[in-house]
Amino acid sequence: MQPNLKRKSREETMFLFVVVFVSLPFTSAAEPEPVVDPPSYVAAVYEHHLILNPEPHVPLSRTAALQHMHQNLDIYEEQAAQAAQRGAQILVFPEDGLQGFNFSRTSISGYLETIPDPQQERWNPCTEPDRYNNTEVLQRLSCIARRYKLYVVANMADLQPCPLKTHPSSSCPPDGRWQFNTNVVFSSDGQLVARYHKQNLYFENSFDTPPQPEIITFDTPFAGKFGLLICFDILFHEPTVTLVERGVRQLIFPTAWMNQLPLLDSIQFQQAFSLGANVTLLAANIRNDRLIMTGSGIYTPFSATYHHAKTGDPEEGRLLVARVPVLDPLWVGQSVAMEEGVAKEKSMSYRATDSGSCHQEGCLFSRTEPTSAADAYSTTSTSSMMYDPFTFVLLKGTKGSLNVCDGTFCCHLQYQQQLPQVNSKELYALGAFAGTHIVNGRYALQVCTLVRCAGLNAASCGQEVEEAETKMDFLLEGTFETRYVYPSVLASHMVLEQPEHLDKSAHGRVSMKHSNMSGGLVSACLYGRMYHLDHA
Ligand SMILES: *[C@@H]1O[C@H](CO)[C@@H](O)[C@H](O)[C@H]1NC(C)=O
Ligand SMILES: *[C@@H]1O[C@H](CO)[C@@H](O)[C@H](O)[C@H]1NC(C)=O
Ligand SMILES: *[C@@H]1O[C@H](CO)[C@@H](O)[C@H](O)[C@H]1NC(C)=O
Ligand SMILES: *[C@@H]1O[C@H](CO)[C@@H](O)[C@H](O)[C@H]1NC(C)=O
Repeated sequence: MQPNLKRKSREETMFLFVVVFVSLPFTSAAEPEPVVDPPSYVAAVYEHHLILNPEPHVPLSRTAALQHMHQNLDIYEEQAAQAAQRGAQILVFPEDGLQGFNFSRTSISGYLETIPDPQQERWNPCTEPDRYNNTEVLQRLSCIARRYKLYVVANMADLQPCPLKTHPSSSCPPDGRWQFNTNVVFSSDGQLVARYHKQNLYFENSFDTPPQPEIITFDTPFAGKFGLLICFDILFHEPTVTLVERGVRQLIFPTAWMNQLPLLDSIQFQQAFSLGANVTLLAANIRNDRLIMTGSGIYTPFSATYHHAKTGDPEEGRLLVARVPVLDPLWVGQSVAMEEGVAKEKSMSYRATDSGSCHQEGCLFSRTEPTSAADAYSTTSTSSMMYDPFTFVLLKGTKGSLNVCDGTFCCHLQYQQQLPQVNSKELYALGAFAGTHIVNGRYALQVCTLVRCAGLNAASCGQEVEEAETKMDFLLEGTFETRYVYPSVLASHMVLEQPEHLDKSAHGRVSMKHSNMSGGLVSACLYGRMYHLDHA
């Protein structure tokens, strides 16, 4: 922590906004049911505290690898039983949840199974175990789906011989085989119905990138179509945005996500993606404290049921179950105004504004609102946030209006601290970044963000901070050169808040308005992805 900045002066008077807020951020689960229930289903995700192989670099026999995976499968089986008991129709397990991480190309060998292509053949590994050798994991997963009568999505390691059946002409890896990080899906009778190979690997020496991005979906009788992605994929155009642009509005996201505040914590980006793409996201993460992995959830554009462990919590798995509306427009047959996310558990359920755009006079902050005196003195500084050089201006005083630009990309903020503040000794900054992120992955960004600085000087802005006491009403906006902008509001102690109002207008202007926070503001973000520049 950095001391040494003088205390901000406190406003004595209560400030009244000139605008009237039109939508309620929360609806309580106890509200009366709508007259006609929209079609819905029960989804479950399991955050798995996996049993690791302590020596992933040492090759082991198939028998030993299976013994290891069966320990994790035993946990899957227990969770499937619980999920079924709670009415789940689909259950998602995380990435790497059976074998773990940090294998080499050869040391993972014992863990590999050759997964047949469900687009080429129908196979139920539980009822037809003899069709293929060396498929014990597939058989067990299939039997779990069948026994508990639910769709099961799991992640495992696939070995495909050369030449690849789907792309016979693509050149084979030097050791003569393909190895893929793979999602498999089993229907509720145990049939293998989908197989997806991860496109965007994240330091995974044991796996190959498929020669072509795979756009994989499967159909269910209870909710129509779901699309598949894995972990790092969520930040890229392929397959994620292609799925969405083909009309897939329910995505399944096994992940092993290492958290990175202030902008890319697991649950924060899961929610941001769900809101930005207006889709349902079923996200299952690993729980591992040493690797900073936690944060799973069931997100719709109207509700979020999520879990994020905090320091000191016992390191254990967590099953989340929620009833959510069907979002497949073809399955529903007609557009249903599903404003009510019926959420079980301790979850938030919120009323989305109709179309994400603003119809009420004055429902955005007036742009002619006088700026605070402090604005005239605001100076910019640059500090690194998650390895990107953000340009920041500090917030001064309890209300005001600020701009900050990184090159020609500009962000605007109007803010008002909720009074009285318990503790106003917290520093906030408005940050802008336009450029290509190049550390541990390469992706082009335009980001506007309001963050709590870790300390009390400008150099601390952008560092990780998890707690805050300052509640703020704000309007954050930017003019983006992309239509892919993912919004999030993260409050103290890893609590997500639903932005009260989002507006996308012509010419790329995106604004997010929020008020009446339930906790202190850690960060608010408009995370713009410039997919078209990724390969520039
Ligand atoms: C915020 O809280 C105030 C005071 O409790 C209330 O009058 C107002 O309606 C709330 N605004 C929204 C958008 O919920
Ligand atoms: C992989 O191994 C390296 C060192 O060998 C270690 O620092 C790192 O934490 C490991 N990563 C995982 C995901 O286990
Ligand atoms: C499975 O392995 C056994 C023993 O190696 C072999 O006899 C059998 O033909 C194999 N079955 C298939 C379907 O490959
Ligand atoms: C998001 O999806 C809902 C429900 O399918 C739809 O009513 C709404 O218009 C969509 N919002 C936007 C901004 O596309």
